[in-house]
Amino acid sequence: MDKVKLYKKIYKTLQSIFDCDYSMSFQAKMSITSAVLFIEFPEFIFCGFYTMCNKKYLEIGPYQGKVLACTKINIGQGVCGTVAENKRTLLVDDVTTHSNYISCDPKTRSEVVVPILKNDDLIAVIDIDSAIRGYFDQIDKYYLEKIAKILI
Ligand code: SME
Repeated sequence: MDKVKLYKKIYKTLQSIFDCDYSMSFQAKMSITSAVLFIEFPEFIFCGFYTMCNKKYLEIGPYQGKVLACTKINIGQGVCGTVAENKRTLLVDDVTTHSNYISCDPKTRSEVVVPILKNDDLIAVIDIDSAIRGYFDQIDKYYLEKIAKILI
């Protein structure tokens, strides 16, 4: 299945799970989203969330992948901290040549980080890593930003 078809399927799945008979928490939605994306994309080696704490730093949230040492990321540090500061999606084609990159897994080659905003405040980021160089493109950006909007 191509990327667009897969994202459309994932978006529909998430919409139908979130559209339930109670007000599902952000925590639950993040957990489900990381699981669905990780199961559907074999190219992802890490897929999860960092949430904003006290407007000071990011802390690891629900995720799928290996056990991580990167539990806390300061605003402005790494790809995630840069996105938290600028509130704009970042696609990194080759993490080995990126100046402000925090390595959590030596296998990672490319990364996408998407902000999740509520009333223009950053509340979390979606962070996805792939072992394939240049894996992420405008399609990932478009659909992950669309998914970010149904999480809050
Ligand atoms: N590479 C990220 C750190 C988090 S891990 O990829 C899970 C960054 O530079 O912010």
